Amino acid sequence: YKKVILDCDPGHDDAMAIILAASGISNLKIEAITTVAGNVEVGKNTLNALKVCDILGLDDVPVAEGAERPMVKEREIAEAIHGDSGLDGPILPEVPDKQTVDIHAVDLIIEKIMASDGDITLVPTGPLTNIAMAMVKNPRIVPKIKEIVLMGGGTFGNWTPAAEFNIYVDAEAAKVVFESGVPIAMFGLDVTHQAVATDSVTKELDEIGNPVSGFVVELLKFFAKTYKEVFGFDGAPIHDACTVAYLMDESIFDMRHVRVDIETKGEFTYGMTAVDTLAVTGREPNVNFACGLDSDKFWGLFREALASYSD
Ligand code: BDR
Ligand code: CA
Repeated sequence: YKKVILDCDPGHDDAMAIILAASGISNLKIEAITTVAGNVEVGKNTLNALKVCDILGLDDVPVAEGAERPMVKEREIAEAIHGDSGLDGPILPEVPDKQTVDIHAVDLIIEKIMASDGDITLVPTGPLTNIAMAMVKNPRIVPKIKEIVLMGGGTFGNWTPAAEFNIYVDAEAAKVVFESGVPIAMFGLDVTHQAVATDSVTKELDEIGNPVSGFVVELLKFFAKTYKEVFGFDGAPIHDACTVAYLMDESIFDMRHVRVDIETKGEFTYGMTAVDTLAVTGREPNVNFACGLDSDKFWGLFREALASYSD
């Protein structure tokens, strides 16, 4: 199996990434779940992570709370998309049973990476604050990180015309990460907007008929509603789940090795990922960029993963 740390801001699609990773067909071992300020305040994201763990029975996975705000900028949240709780839609208990571990996410990431044989993959599906902070606090982790498989960026934006939410919220952190030299697989909007849970997909998932698929269907209904309101979309892209799907089956995705740099100065382009598609910079490629996916395969994997919760 592959060891992963899921660094997230759950978040409807973050929750779906966790559900895939923890499923009975997964080849991943979740070493930890760490949370970060993103979709909503970090405390709310943490509560959501704990509740998702309760639903999935992830008793042994440590959950650690991380950064409360971006490295340089003021905090910005996306409650128009994820609701006030960050995970609106399904009815969840007020308080989770599971508790966080008593260590900051940044320190847990450092501890886990340093104690590893260089075999841990980081899977950030929120702003990159915790990852960058860990790299800044202890640069010795950098060569020991196997890979970073992240959701963020793209050749267009969803928060500004140029920038995707996760990168925009903490572009300085993204710059640290993208310039770190660690191999990066990037799942940006170009690919995640191909992972759309349409009504017919949601209906198929509903037919699986176990508590976890029921939970996912409630998440998708809320997510689709806000995507309709905010972007006028039919169906919601479940961005973050692409990262875990890739680790479970690389053959779902078309990848290209390209140079990606993070814009931290532009008046209209702050937080943009400058993807050098035509290799015009001559700069060393630093990112495995996901540009396409096989949607039948993707939803097939998702269905199988949800069905595995019936046993
Ligand atoms: C990203 O932003 C968040 O709202 C989602 O969870 C995802 O990680 C998409 O831009
Ligand atoms: Ca997210």
